[in-house]
Amino acid sequence: MCGIVACILKDGSAAPVLLECVRRLEYRGYDSVGIATSDPMIRIKKDSGKIDEVDAELDLADLPGSMGIAHVRWATHGLPTAENAHPHTDCSGEIAVVHNGIIENYLEVKEELESEGHIFRSETDTEVIPHLIEKYMDEGMDLEAATATALRKLRGAYAIAVVSSREPGRIVGARKESPLIVGVGEGEYFLASDVPAILNHTSRVIYLDDGEMVILDGDLRVTDMEGNTVEKEIHSIDWSADMAEKGGYDHFMLKEIHEEPSAVRDTLTEWDEVLGVVEEIGEVERICFVACGTSYHASLVGKYLFESLLGIPTDVILASEFRYSAGALNDRTLAIFISQSGETADTLNALRAANSRAKTLAIVNVLGSSATREAQHVLYTRAGPEIGVAATKTYVSQLTVIYMLVAAMGAPELMDRLGRVPEFMERALKDEDSIRELAATCSDVSDFFFIGRGFAYPTALEGALKLKEITYIHGEGYAAGELKHGPLALIDNGVPVVAISPPGPCHDKTLSNVEEVRARGARVIGVGSISDESLRKEADDFIGLDPEVDDVISPLIYIVPLQLLSYHVSVERGLDPDKPKNLAKCVTVE
Ligand code: F6R
Repeated sequence: MCGIVACILKDGSAAPVLLECVRRLEYRGYDSVGIATSDPMIRIKKDSGKIDEVDAELDLADLPGSMGIAHVRWATHGLPTAENAHPHTDCSGEIAVVHNGIIENYLEVKEELESEGHIFRSETDTEVIPHLIEKYMDEGMDLEAATATALRKLRGAYAIAVVSSREPGRIVGARKESPLIVGVGEGEYFLASDVPAILNHTSRVIYLDDGEMVILDGDLRVTDMEGNTVEKEIHSIDWSADMAEKGGYDHFMLKEIHEEPSAVRDTLTEWDEVLGVVEEIGEVERICFVACGTSYHASLVGKYLFESLLGIPTDVILASEFRYSAGALNDRTLAIFISQSGETADTLNALRAANSRAKTLAIVNVLGSSATREAQHVLYTRAGPEIGVAATKTYVSQLTVIYMLVAAMGAPELMDRLGRVPEFMERALKDEDSIRELAATCSDVSDFFFIGRGFAYPTALEGALKLKEITYIHGEGYAAGELKHGPLALIDNGVPVVAISPPGPCHDKTLSNVEEVRARGARVIGVGSISDESLRKEADDFIGLDPEVDDVISPLIYIVPLQLLSYHVSVERGLDPDKPKNLAKCVTVE
C-alpha cells in the first residue's frame, strides 16, 4: 500500500515524469498524492484525493528541477488529509521524504524529537524520518550517513526516497520489508515500488533487498546500512509499457478480464518449470496452502484438486491466521504461498515462519518480488502487470499453475483439458452483452448470494468477493448445502442468488438447493452448461457456458462471467471498478 517513485534525469523536468510514473502506482493507494522536486530548493505540491482531482487543482507537473520524489497514499497513520499527504519534510523544509510502510516506534521517536525542538505538522509515522535525518545532518553527517543512522533508530517496515537541498543532485533510497526497485536508464535513474511505474523509461531493473540503500547522483551505488558497497545484478524485464495501459478499454479491470485467455496460454508455457520444481521438491505427504483474498480462493481450488485427484491431504490457511493455526508442518509438507504481488505482508510473514519447518513454494506474478526471493522454490504466473485493484487475470493464472502442479505430481490427464481453457474462456467472453444487460437489472439490490458445491464452491466465494469489493453491494458466497444451516433466513423476495452448477457429480444436489431458494422467493441467476435445461428452467436468468467444461475445470471458466457481472454492476452504479474505496492492490501491512 502506498506507492513511491523517485527520478533523477539527465536534463528536462522531473515533475511530469514523476506524475506519469506515480499514476501507474495509483492502484497502491488513492487517498492522497504528492510530488517534491529539487532545483536544488525543495518544492512540494500535495493534497488528499485521487491523482486526477489533485492534478486538476494543483497542476502537479508544474514544478522546476530535474530530480524529485512522488507518492500515492493508502492511509494507515492519520486521516487522508493534505497535511498527512507525502512528501513530508524536516523543520527547515530542506529534506523531503516519501515512505511506504509503517514505522512502529514512531511515537517514542517523535516525542524525543519534539523535546529537542522539532516541529511536526502531520499525524503520520513517516514524518519522524525527515526530522531524524535533519538532526543527524545538523550534527555533521552527509545525507547518506544521516539516512542510514535514522533508519537504524527505527523499527518497522519501509521503502523510502529522500532528497535534500543541502545535497543537490542526490537521491537516497532504502528498503526493509516494503518493495523498492531501481530503474537504470541511459544516464538517468528511477526508484519505484513496482516495475510498471517505470516501464515507459527503462526495462532494466535492480531489485533491492532488505537492509539495502541506494544512492543516485548521476551514478548508482547500492550499499548495506553500514555503507559497504553491495554488487547487484541488473535484470531485463520483458513486460512492456503497453501492458500497463488501458488499450482502448474503459477500465483496466475490463481489459484484464479480456486478457484472461492469453494469461492462461502464457502461463501454460511454464510447464517445464513446473516439472523442474516438482522434481526438486521430491516426496510430499501433505500440502498446506497459505494466501489471502482472491489468492486464498485459488488455494481452495487447489485443495479440491490435490485431495480428489491425488489423495494428498491439503490444508488451506488464511495467511493472517497462519501463526495461530499451522502447527503440523514438517519436512514432508509442501507449503504453497500464493500471491499476485509477492509483497503481501501476511503471506510473507507466514512464508518466513514456514521456511525452516517445511518445503516452501511461492506462486507469484510480480517478478523479483519479496516472496520470490524468500521461498525455497518459485513458480511464476505469466499474467503480465495487473493494475485493476480487483484480481482477475492473475486469479485464473494462479489456478493454471495449481492445475499444472497437480498434473505434474500425478494427474497428467489434466494438461489436455487445460490446453482448451483459453478457447472456453474466449467463448464465455463473447457473452458480455447479455451480462451487461443482466447487470443493469440488478445494480440497485442490497444483497447478493453466490452458491456452489465442490469445485464450484471456491468460485462462489470468489464471485461474492469480486462483487462486494467493486460494487459495495453486500455479497456472500456459500457452499450450496450450507444455506439451510442459517443463511436461508436471509433469502427473501427478489434477492439475487447466483447458482453455480457445472456438469458433474454435484449438479443435481445444487439443483435441489436452487429449488429451496426459489421457494423462498429468490431471483435465481443460474450459471451452468448451455445445454443444462433443468437449471435453465429453475432460473430467472441464465448464463450458459460451454457444455464440455465439467466441474473439475470449471473454476477457470465459470469465474469469467461472474467477474464481468461485478464489473458491469459497478459501472452501472457509477463507480470506478479499478479503484474501489478503502482498498489497495498491494497490502504490505498486517
Ligand atoms: C481481491 C484481491 C485481494 C488479493 C489479496 C492478496 O480482488 O485482489 O483479495 O487477492 O489482497 O493479494 P496477493 O495475491 O498480492 O497476495
